[in-house]
Amino acid sequence: MSIEIVETVAGLRHEIAARRARGERIGFVATMGALHAGHARLIERAAAENDCAVVSVFVNPIQFNDATDFERYPRTLDADAALAAAAGAQIVFAPSNAEMYPRAPLTHVDVDELSAGLCGAFRPGHFRGVATVVAKLLNIVQPDVAYFGEKDYQQLAVIRRMAADLSIDVEIVGVAIVREADGLAMSSRNRHLAEVERALAPEIYRTLTQLRDEIAAGASSAAELKFAAGEALGVHGLRVEYLEFVDPETLAPIERIAAPVVIAAAVWVGATRLIDNLLCPLESRG
Ligand code: PAF
Repeated sequence: MSIEIVETVAGLRHEIAARRARGERIGFVATMGALHAGHARLIERAAAENDCAVVSVFVNPIQFNDATDFERYPRTLDADAALAAAAGAQIVFAPSNAEMYPRAPLTHVDVDELSAGLCGAFRPGHFRGVATVVAKLLNIVQPDVAYFGEKDYQQLAVIRRMAADLSIDVEIVGVAIVREADGLAMSSRNRHLAEVERALAPEIYRTLTQLRDEIAAGASSAAELKFAAGEALGVHGLRVEYLEFVDPETLAPIERIAAPVVIAAAVWVGATRLIDNLLCPLESRG
């Protein structure tokens, strides 16, 4: 299937306006490229539920608080366009930095409390950069629906709230995490893992499922569970940046687990930081 690559805001607006005039419904998937099967799931959903699926590919400098991480981020536009086309997209929007930020922005979007904990505590300014670029992208594309992966659970919560608070006329849809056969959550960062690290990385999901099972069996002390998880991952040489039990809506940390929680973690596997999360519904508790 052929795909159109558009590099300018004006060009994209022109294309979207023509499609709108034909009555098309627009679905949108925002990405930083290095697309994998997890992104393909989002794009397939956007393509199935809309007349036109637009995929943005933009490595957003203002959400990186580490210049090396930004430089190291994989840039694979040709392969991304091929994957997007195969997943059913009609348009890839791939602007340059200068197109997105013709001058240093003086306007930013802060989503206060939801951005404070978890990744936000370790990556100052990250969610400000995410909320700002997603607000810009939603404003440029003006989709009916935008799809985001649940792997970035906090990001999804921040974007939902930002869209609601700013009255952006879009439906935000969360799509379930896509995992490798051994449980590792798909991520563009997985390609940084050396072979031995790749073999260890599924320990993250294994630990999360173990915690979920213990909670289902009645464990309720977050501190005790955190300690055990840190030890279990440490045995494999993985370093926990954070592992928290949080309220699924507010993301407030929970110390005594008595209602559904999300277990959210960021773990270093060598020089690669991976995140994952798992919902514990507690329905199996007596
Ligand atoms: O999840 C990502 O890839 C990015 O944070 C996003 C949403 C495309 C904003 O740059």
